[in-house]
Amino acid sequence: RIAGPCGMVLFGVTGDLSRKKVMPAIYDLANRGLLPPGFSLVGFARRDWAHQDFAQIVHDSVKAHARTEFREEVWQQLAEGFRFVPGDFDDDQAFDRLRRTIEELDVDRGTGGNHAFYLAIPPGFFGAVVGQLKEHGLAEERNGSWRRVVVEKPFGHDLESARELNDVLGQVFPSGSVFRIDHYLGKETVQNILAMRFANELFEPIWNANYVDHVQITMAEDIGIGGRAGYYDGIGAARDVIQNHLLQLMSLVAMEEPTSFDAESLRIEKQKVLSSVVLPRRLDLTTARGQYAPGWAGGEKVPGFLEEEGIRKTSTTETYAAVTLGVDTRRWAGVPFYLRTGKRLGRRVTEVAVVFKRAPHLPFSSTSTEELTQNALVIRVQPDEGMTIRFGSKVPGTAMEIRDVNMDFVYGGSFVESSPEAYERLILDVLLGDPPLFPRHEEVELSWKILDPILEHWAKKGKPEQYPSGTWGPESADKMLARDGRVWRRP
Ligand code: BG6
Repeated sequence: RIAGPCGMVLFGVTGDLSRKKVMPAIYDLANRGLLPPGFSLVGFARRDWAHQDFAQIVHDSVKAHARTEFREEVWQQLAEGFRFVPGDFDDDQAFDRLRRTIEELDVDRGTGGNHAFYLAIPPGFFGAVVGQLKEHGLAEERNGSWRRVVVEKPFGHDLESARELNDVLGQVFPSGSVFRIDHYLGKETVQNILAMRFANELFEPIWNANYVDHVQITMAEDIGIGGRAGYYDGIGAARDVIQNHLLQLMSLVAMEEPTSFDAESLRIEKQKVLSSVVLPRRLDLTTARGQYAPGWAGGEKVPGFLEEEGIRKTSTTETYAAVTLGVDTRRWAGVPFYLRTGKRLGRRVTEVAVVFKRAPHLPFSSTSTEELTQNALVIRVQPDEGMTIRFGSKVPGTAMEIRDVNMDFVYGGSFVESSPEAYERLILDVLLGDPPLFPRHEEVELSWKILDPILEHWAKKGKPEQYPSGTWGPESADKMLARDGRVWRRP
């Protein structure tokens, strides 16, 4: 899978995302030989830069964040395709310059009229930029060439704004040319959920309400909001992570087998899950949210959310969110899906735990099974990628004592191949025009439909509960599960 002749135009070149993810991923792709030799990267920003200044920015970002080794010859070849266009999003002349730059690249670098416009900018500017692309003929595909647009979340902040955003994009680009990045779908372990479920006979027969007691999906981070106050305040954990990453993970865990692995078949199945999601009636008892207070992270004292630079002292933005969802289908009726995410928690871990029902009968004395919990299958998305199955086993010895043991599959132990970074995989897919790993607007809208009532409920409640940094979140989250007779895993 090597991309054909093409280039990319990057809006938002000075942002975190471009520097930490997009630029390094482009270099890594080039280094792996997956980009065409004449690939071009055009930066567009309101900066008084020459081409060399832009090249320096990319160079620094590659040096700091690329996954693969720095090779001068790869860098030189890539950098020959760099151009910079200074300008504002409302500056017509700048977009004329952009058009001319692209036309020149088609001649000088053989990019063949194929260009992806990557909007690594706040969604408030999407309208202005795609409007300009249309106005200046940049969105038009000519003589078999392609034009695509890549957008990053947040895809709106509720259902209504998400619809508006989709309309804005839809007026300029056909839906097949819009690539929405949810970088979780680019992760190796996330794609493996489907391989694990549908390439084997072992798991699928028990993957339903007859055997599964509940599912826990956790995305925990030990970091705080870092320098992202401007983005995060007013957005919060549910919009930042549950609306996209966790609901996508849940769709993959809960969906039926797609008829094939093309984008349309996957979308149909994911969409069925998302439209079957139901919320419990008592949102006060079945959701929880919190804000990190001062505490400890990695042995260091860290400030609370409200003391972070750029955060309003009265902010009610949640940095932890947990929700209980049901999936009203024959397969999942009555099985709660607990989703949680938070910053400044005990450690960085993302996992999906499918927890099974207890054996209907244990022919052992209760003292011999004291340390036995429920069977579980845990898909470890990160950091130590793999899968664990927890089951009861006899403890060696003369007594019939039974205890939980883990059977582990570790990526590093089974594969010599390394996983590409999620952004590498996804950017390559954009350039190849391969859409299965990109959420469609129907999924985005359905996800907001699920979240909106919860967000409205929280908005009425004022301040979130505080939890000390370095712990596993607010007490209300523990109570939420305790009410159902369950506990959160402590990975
Ligand atoms: C992003 C969120 O989508 O995912 C961030 O906006 C979060 O708040 C990040 O830190 C985590 O990504 P990963 O790949 O490190 O789990």
